[in-house]
Amino acid sequence: MSSTTDLVIFGALGDLSKRKLFPALYQLDRAGLLDASVRIAAVARDNINTPAFIEQLHLVLQKAFGPAAFDVASWLRFSHRLHYIKIDFAQKKQFLALKDWLLAGRTAIYYLATPPSMFSPISKHLDAAGCVAADSRIVLEKPIGHDLKSSQEVNSAVADCFAEGNIYRIDHYLGKETVQNLLALRFANRMINSQWDNSSIDHVQITAAEVVGIEGRWGYYDKVGQLRDMIQNHLLQLLCMVAMEPPNSLQADEIRAEKVKILRALSPITVDTVAEQAVRGQYTAGWVGGKPVVGYMEEEGSERESSNTETFVALKTYIDNWRWAGVPFYLRTGKRMHSKVTEVVITYKDHPHGIFPDRDRGAHNRLIIRLQPNEGIELEMVSKKQSLKERMGLEKRRLNLDFFDSSGESRIADAYERLFLEVIKGDQWLFVSRDEIEASWRWCDTLLDAWNKKGLGVKGYSAGSWGPSKAEMLIEKDQRSWHES
Ligand code: BG6
Repeated sequence: MSSTTDLVIFGALGDLSKRKLFPALYQLDRAGLLDASVRIAAVARDNINTPAFIEQLHLVLQKAFGPAAFDVASWLRFSHRLHYIKIDFAQKKQFLALKDWLLAGRTAIYYLATPPSMFSPISKHLDAAGCVAADSRIVLEKPIGHDLKSSQEVNSAVADCFAEGNIYRIDHYLGKETVQNLLALRFANRMINSQWDNSSIDHVQITAAEVVGIEGRWGYYDKVGQLRDMIQNHLLQLLCMVAMEPPNSLQADEIRAEKVKILRALSPITVDTVAEQAVRGQYTAGWVGGKPVVGYMEEEGSERESSNTETFVALKTYIDNWRWAGVPFYLRTGKRMHSKVTEVVITYKDHPHGIFPDRDRGAHNRLIIRLQPNEGIELEMVSKKQSLKERMGLEKRRLNLDFFDSSGESRIADAYERLFLEVIKGDQWLFVSRDEIEASWRWCDTLLDAWNKKGLGVKGYSAGSWGPSKAEMLIEKDQRSWHES
């Protein structure tokens, strides 16, 4: 790892910084993975100084980790790296304060945990203030744009100041250990890889269900919706990891080239197919974890009489290539659902001819890849019932590999820890290329456009359920059903 890094976090007092970025950096330091010479600048517009920032962060981290997991010696070491710089991001001249802090001969990494509207001005002001050297890196949080056109504008504005090889676009799902494990599962296991195509697989399901609602973000979320918030990035990235061809190597360019091929091969959902292939929903009041919760329209910050913004999406798509032709990929994601679960379920085809009389349709082999929580892999297999009463009765059994139990680690690292390490190393394999972002927006724009042209509204679903009944119908009409976690 580069020992001469100056890490600059823009938006250092924001929610993401407090919840994810600083806790991740503290954990890296604690684990001895942050080189002693790494310096960290926290940049925001509030009028505070370094000691006040350190005090604030101390309280935040103590609260986040709790007394048992908060290590005072690690914190002291970590806090010595921190420096607060007050900058109003819209004021070009104020970037000179950052220029004064940077040291020659060190690699600067700018992490933009800011609203996306700031990506372009911050890049320009950094450049104008002389803060951008040939090796300076910039890290962009999602969302990058609102559609293809706006994402191209953002990408082009940042590209005016940073080379593509120095732009790190975050999709935090790629930082999750379990998502990276999809590569190991597929490409390090001959047994799995040799059965990974349309001759063996019946269909694929990808679910990312959340229990949380809008979390005080109504104003923002209502302009975005679940398709842009989750499908455009996280679910399509998962789909790429499941469906891509083996890359030539684990080099970033090789992996990203394979992913973009999948995104370009995604069959568009158009005006003609949208009613059959996609459902959008919006939660109404209900019960979550035994407590009553309000509906989307009654959430704090709701400003309108009605809204057609979806908090749930279920869809069926295909990948138009040699390996996957004819295999449906069902994607499902929503807020305020029954439980938090992110998983990929691969259902295998049945044998062409059955010799077991009592074998029912529910007895296919299934590979369930649990990304969170209870990270692990389950393989549903059919085995003989241990019984003298039946000649050859069958039953479904599960092989269960629990990552947490078997890893020997006391915790699974947060995605942001891994992502920081990679950006400091200068490796883009877990970051999204411009081509991927644009291919993904192109596909999402077609779907959004089809929904709007068809005038298809959101279907209500009770908070705490698995989504609108239409979502069940979407898969059941194909004689399949959603996997129940
Ligand atoms: C974010 C979305 O990118 O991912 C949030 O903006 C969502 O709306 C979150 O809640 C989910 O992340 P995770 O890691 O909890 O699955």
